Amino acid sequence: MRFLIDTANVEEIRDIHEWGVLAGVTTNPSLVAKEGRDFIDTLNEIIDTIDGPISAEVISVDAKGMIEEGEKLAALSKNIVVKVPMTEEGLKAVKVFSKKKIKTNVTLIFNANQALLAARAGATYVSPFLGRLDDIGQDGLQLISDIAEIFEVHGLDTEIIAASIRHPIHVTEAAKRGSHFATIPYKVFKQLLQHPLTDSGLQKFLADWANMQK
Ligand code: E4P
Repeated sequence: MRFLIDTANVEEIRDIHEWGVLAGVTTNPSLVAKEGRDFIDTLNEIIDTIDGPISAEVISVDAKGMIEEGEKLAALSKNIVVKVPMTEEGLKAVKVFSKKKIKTNVTLIFNANQALLAARAGATYVSPFLGRLDDIGQDGLQLISDIAEIFEVHGLDTEIIAASIRHPIHVTEAAKRGSHFATIPYKVFKQLLQHPLTDSGLQKFLADWANMQK
């Protein structure tokens, strides 16, 4: 499984990118709005920061508008992935983007049938929102397993981006269940590498070494 960061905050992207683990970035209208900056300026700064898939979501809800917006976004960089919602209009747009060789990420996916439809329409990526399912007492991780099984059985090339990640266990389980990517908030990235025994073990090594020097 490969790591994406789920943010429109360029400083957060730069910080985690220094770890050498980032494959790309996902954004959505809420994440962009949170930064309070011009969308295109933000995307251009992200494009200059990382060489990998950068998901940028359209705002239009009709296929025509999605296509017009998406073509402009895709023109910014070869790395731009046009993100569209899992709707009828979104599927129509994905079909057109697929013919134009524009990469797409179908978002707001909450069941396996939606993921299969998106894949058959030609989506490059699908984004099942496991955290939001958990939030309402459903099994988000089971959705990852179901989609991975269906894509494997039918030899589908569409890749799964486990999204709406809430904590490190989501990352572990998404990896075990065959998700190709996990898109992870900055805060959760910081949690991923932490363990109290690592910290205490390092302190002990340093203390023992210091004692030897006395
Ligand atoms: C992917 O980029 C999704 O938009 C994002 O992971 C949603 O996360 P949320 O459910 O915490 O808003």
